[in-house]
Amino acid sequence: MTATDGDMASKGPSVGSARPGYVPDAARTEADVIFRAEGITKHFGAVVALSGVDLHLDRGEVLGLVGDNGAGKSTLVKILCGFLRPDSGRIFVEGKEVTFHTVQDARAQGIETVYQDLALVPQLTVYENLFLNREITGAGRMGVLSRRRMRGLAKEYLDNINVHIPNIDAEVELLSGGQRQAIAVARATRQDAKILLLDEPLAAMGAKESALIMDLVKDLSSRGVSMIVIDHNYAHLFALCDRLNVIQQGKVTLDRPVAETSVNELTDLMVSSFRRQLEAGHLAAAED
Ligand SMILES: Nc1ncnc2c1ncn2[C@@H]1O[C@H](COP(=O)(O)OP(=O)(O)OP(=O)(O)O)[C@@H](O)[C@H]1O
Ligand SMILES: [Mg+2]
Repeated sequence: MTATDGDMASKGPSVGSARPGYVPDAARTEADVIFRAEGITKHFGAVVALSGVDLHLDRGEVLGLVGDNGAGKSTLVKILCGFLRPDSGRIFVEGKEVTFHTVQDARAQGIETVYQDLALVPQLTVYENLFLNREITGAGRMGVLSRRRMRGLAKEYLDNINVHIPNIDAEVELLSGGQRQAIAVARATRQDAKILLLDEPLAAMGAKESALIMDLVKDLSSRGVSMIVIDHNYAHLFALCDRLNVIQQGKVTLDRPVAETSVNELTDLMVSSFRRQLEAGHLAAAED
């Protein structure tokens, strides 16, 4: 993080606190919780990626997840969207327990995801990626994709959300990292998602494109979409989120409304944890 991040982060309230209908944390009940995970654990061989994560997302809320590299954030998102199965733990959507075997299971519950490692198909065009797995077929021509319609809709949709890609017929592998990210976000937001999981949606973005995606997130939020956003940049998180969860070594170590925490508190938490790990010899390699 840079000094600029801190300066920006201290400015202005979050979107949520200004949003009509947003229920402040203290006044919430279980009925306000749209998505909940309980005791999620996940091992990859000897690596403990998650060890007993409890997390909740309230209706209409933007929850930020922050934590060091390797803390387990992406693993958690992949479990919440049905891409990975947890070793143990439970997931609830609107109070009802669910088991996701595939990403489609989660989609059926209104959960859409933008993965950190993208998941666009490089050899397909922009519009083909936008419609991947949701192809439109022409009337009376079973199985034949209505390319003209998809191209038209793709262009219209991208224009509407101000994502300007020079050529929607271009293969995605020819686009820049930021443009690809914009398409991944556009694809997830194209669906009428109830819950949107965004794993570092701004990571490859320039300033202008970041602002554009942030506006998109704010707009979706104002339309009542509940979201989990992962970002390493505190300025983004403070601008977008209602509440933050810090994840450290596979556990949630802090759960605070943004209005009740600060960049300093978060930085102190990260630094003290780093020091503890160093003292315990877990980060011996960092000396090299
Ligand atoms: N498929 C996998 N196979 C083996 N280990 C994995 C796999 N996916 C993640 N891990 C390990 O699990 C831990 C958590 O990784 P994860 O990707 O969830 O971290 P993260 O918090 O998203 O980090 P970053 O901020 O760098 O994206 C790491 O130690 C990582 O190496
Ligand atoms: Mg990650």
